[in-house]
Amino acid sequence: MHENPKRINIMEANTIYKGLEGVTVSETKVGFVDGEAGRLVYRGYNIEDLTEHSSYEEVAYLLINGHLPNAKEYQDFTQVLRKSSELSKEVVDLIWTHSESHPTSLLRTAVSLLGANDRRADHALDKDQKDMGMELVGKIPAIVSSIRRAKDGGKYVSPSPELSMAGNMLYQSTGKKPDKTSERIMDVCLMLHADHGSNASTFSSLVTISTLSDIYSALTSAIGTLKGPLHGGANEMALKLIMKIGKPENVEKVIGDMLQKKEKIMGFGHRVYKVYDPRAKILKGFAREVTQKNGKELLFQTAQKVEDTMIMKLGSKGIFPNVDFYSGMVYDSLGFHPDIFTAIFAASRASGWVARSLEYVSDNKLFRPRSSYIGERGPKEYIPIGKRN
Ligand code: CMC
Repeated sequence: MHENPKRINIMEANTIYKGLEGVTVSETKVGFVDGEAGRLVYRGYNIEDLTEHSSYEEVAYLLINGHLPNAKEYQDFTQVLRKSSELSKEVVDLIWTHSESHPTSLLRTAVSLLGANDRRADHALDKDQKDMGMELVGKIPAIVSSIRRAKDGGKYVSPSPELSMAGNMLYQSTGKKPDKTSERIMDVCLMLHADHGSNASTFSSLVTISTLSDIYSALTSAIGTLKGPLHGGANEMALKLIMKIGKPENVEKVIGDMLQKKEKIMGFGHRVYKVYDPRAKILKGFAREVTQKNGKELLFQTAQKVEDTMIMKLGSKGIFPNVDFYSGMVYDSLGFHPDIFTAIFAASRASGWVARSLEYVSDNKLFRPRSSYIGERGPKEYIPIGKRN
């Protein structure tokens, strides 16, 4: 058998790209992150234009289908989303029985349960994958809201047909119809987090779908990956840190001590952006507005001081606030507890995961990288257990 010459070259080079940094693994038309210019683009549209003029429903459709929907496409899509946001008894029971669990873990399990109960997932065809994916885009926000509702001791709330997805996220989590400002802020947060290049959770979803597994499995992998504090878990920790610091006067000492101990400050730095994250810029404006409205100016002032201190100390290294630094403050103002921030991130990123998984599998190649073995090559003598020290 002849070996593929390209493979031999890769084996011989034996170069290790830790964390796959700088490695390109696929082509995509879904979204583009320009780390030098600080630009984020979904299917050619600037994130600033989308957050000003569009809605999460349109953005999700755009990411998955490649174009903005016309009126009929929009109506059909929102109908799928609305229908999907009514949760089944099994999922509601799971959430209320395990309401003490970490929200991201519970979300991961709920998505896995949905997959186990959907016979289309057993041998998923292309069309089924897309249908199931779009349903998940509707279901995941409803699961996240219901987790919050269960944690607060309330009863399950059915989605309202009059509300947007963002509005229903707030309604299903509180049982109260949201005011227009809160609905709009939630909508912008959903749009901002919908897609972001080959990040760790998106990559996880691609690895899973590349085995021709089903879309529920791909999103279950992605949610598990998003949970970590170096990825989606950073916003929860960023807000907790700002709260712990308490006031601007404490910032220099706390941040100085942490940096001296080589601790990472959550909500800063990014593998791709070496300038200010454009999502953080948009969220910072909202954070200022909502903290003023809620009488939490001190929180914002403390965060601003953390930002100034970090930029002064590490800006020359390309370390600036990322999306997670201000998103926590915004979610806090909408009444969400820090434990659920990462799950909210997942509620939005579901559309990016689905879009990129479907795109990848349409021109599939199984992911199968190599590791460089640096252990003993042996052969060592096998010693039976009774004779070992
Ligand atoms: N606080 C302090 N120092 C930092 C930070 C930070 N947040 N981020 C990077 N550095 C330093 C790091 O210590 C290293 O210094 P040195 O060169 O002296 O060893 C240098 O900057 C390069 O950092 P790195 O961790 O090797 O770079 P990376 O590209 O692997 O890291 C990152 C990217 C996001 C993992 C990292 O910046 C980090 O851990 N940030 C905190 C966690 C966080 O906010 N994550 C959310 C990312 S945005 C959401 C998303 O899109 O997923």
